[in-house]
Amino acid sequence: MVSPRSLAGSLAGRISTKDIECEEDHNFQVTPWEVSGKIDYVKLIREFGLQSMRQLPKQFEHSVLFRRGIVFAHRDFKQITDAIEQKKPFVMMTGLMPSGKFHFGHKMVAEQIIFYQSLGAKIYLAVADIEAYNSRNPNMKELRETAIQEYLLNYIALGLKPENCDFYFQSSRSKNGARANAYYSLASMLARHATFNEFKAIYGDISPGKMTSSLLQASDMLHPQLPEFEGGPVPVIVPVGADQDPHLRLARDVSQRIKEFKFMQLSSTYHKFLPGLGGGKMSSSDPLSYISLTDTPTEAATKVKKYAFSGGQPTIEEHRKKGGNPDIDVSFQMLKYGLEPDDAKLADIQDDYKSGKLLTGELKQTVAEKLSKFLEEHQKKRKQAEKMVEKFLQI
Ligand code: TRP
Repeated sequence: MVSPRSLAGSLAGRISTKDIECEEDHNFQVTPWEVSGKIDYVKLIREFGLQSMRQLPKQFEHSVLFRRGIVFAHRDFKQITDAIEQKKPFVMMTGLMPSGKFHFGHKMVAEQIIFYQSLGAKIYLAVADIEAYNSRNPNMKELRETAIQEYLLNYIALGLKPENCDFYFQSSRSKNGARANAYYSLASMLARHATFNEFKAIYGDISPGKMTSSLLQASDMLHPQLPEFEGGPVPVIVPVGADQDPHLRLARDVSQRIKEFKFMQLSSTYHKFLPGLGGGKMSSSDPLSYISLTDTPTEAATKVKKYAFSGGQPTIEEHRKKGGNPDIDVSFQMLKYGLEPDDAKLADIQDDYKSGKLLTGELKQTVAEKLSKFLEEHQKKRKQAEKMVEKFLQI
């Protein structure tokens, strides 16, 4: 067993898991409709009633996101680690909002999906086109294009395999009528088991479109356990950003009230948000905040050099004397979130930056080089991936 915190400490001895986000700030907001401010993850765990990540089976060492504490909290995760250790079947289910460019924040989710696939999970992936229609962009054709060109192609290039993977659109669950009926009926039947006050308490701001999307998302998360799909109760892990927890609370509650089906309680994990270039959250609605996986290597390098918020000092003399702050340095955070997979190397960079030995320009140069190299290889794989797309669209 490994614990993400002690592992981060013990492997290299020096990686701090205390992030910028832990600084005191009472003005942050984390809801499915808005993420803003400096997020205090400790407070979030308390307010949402999550469990912090502690002991994990050895396999999780292979995931940078788990061993560096970026996946920081969960609900009922033990059902999943038990299934993995006992080699029992389990499902990984998550969804994607097909809006804008696929960036390094989205890549984190993709890496978790692919990691669970490597652990033997059956993968369910929902394109939330109905949710996007109701909340953002009413052009269904464009949503489908974005889902395939931006999301699916990048997932495949990052390593997602078509075997044991059920990729579907909320607007088009299955060509198999019995399956499609089961999924949409569940979404509608769950409505009976929630009250308006509950919606208000969980979401605050709520509209018919948002309610419909929440119930459809509940069906996304629960339907793998229906007779028409996996055949009965099975552990389901839903890896998401912390903003999605309200959807999980609703789905977990209604799933235990509906008597027609027996659902095993949903499990979920929560990852921290990758900081955007200027701080805040990396978000596809703010072009200056993200590096996309289709940016050219040169574009990406320039973005880092020009826009990535620096934790360094204003002058070289001051930097040499006082050192930089890697916790608020976006370039360093990009390395920590995966661009530098080697823990010992990451710790060296962290130490050198803190001591003032490593300058901001030098750190940025390292990140820019790593980024360009990654993008060059990734974009070749993306070309290859085009041939695979059809294999994922058979459902
Ligand atoms: N609401 C999610 C988002 O905004 C997308 C989503 C739809 C989802 N269905 C899901 C996430 C099921 C997890 C599980 O990104």
